[in-house]
Amino acid sequence: MARSTSHPRIKPNLQRWYYAIELRKTHYGMLPLLLSVTPMSPAFASPTLIIAHSYLSKIRYSMRILFSKPIYKQNMLKLIVNGKVHNVEDIDPSTPLLWILRDTLNLVGTKYGCGIAQCGACIVLVDGQPVRSCAYSVGLATKHKITTIEGVVGENGALHPLQQAWIDLDVSQCGYCQAGQIMSALALLNHNPRPSIAEIDVALAGNLCRCGTYLRIKHAIQVAAQSMTDTENTS
Ligand code: FES
Ligand code: FES
Repeated sequence: MARSTSHPRIKPNLQRWYYAIELRKTHYGMLPLLLSVTPMSPAFASPTLIIAHSYLSKIRYSMRILFSKPIYKQNMLKLIVNGKVHNVEDIDPSTPLLWILRDTLNLVGTKYGCGIAQCGACIVLVDGQPVRSCAYSVGLATKHKITTIEGVVGENGALHPLQQAWIDLDVSQCGYCQAGQIMSALALLNHNPRPSIAEIDVALAGNLCRCGTYLRIKHAIQVAAQSMTDTENTS
């Protein structure tokens, strides 16, 4: 006796449906082929037109991408750098701030070291806070106060006590990291005028110096802090 779990009256019906569907699929599948190989058929134009239209759309889309303005071209960012307002045009807001400072505004005192927020050579202040400009989008800095090493010097050209201490104690060696070191020190002194050695260590932990000038840097920060306190007391 044959083994079957299906209902005896349902199975033939299902089979009929199955064959009907398969037959239709085969016929429908061949239809475009038949139409496209029958040049005189009025339906011949239809697949050709569809293909042509699709190619034209692709070409139109490519042309639009090629010749339209990139989205960022419409952008103009307002940057306040060292007290001056700069309207920078055609700028992608995701560009690292470092490139805008160096390449667009020609403020090359800020250095490119690692490029991955590890060395501190590129540190600038944004609203008084140290940020690593190699990993900080210019779009985030817009309308905020940016200070670079060029803006540390006073309006009349007088050196900041930090810069003076750096010179007096001959801190720099190759000098590459020093702009970033001074910017971190400035951020520290702005909110902690008399930092301890431990506090200096913490604040400048992210500033690397391949020449190993760390001891002189700490000393210079303390000298500058003393000088700033003395000036405040006498004024
Ligand atoms: S260049 Fe930005 S942290 Fe090194
Ligand atoms: S002075 Fe050379 S890397 Fe710091």
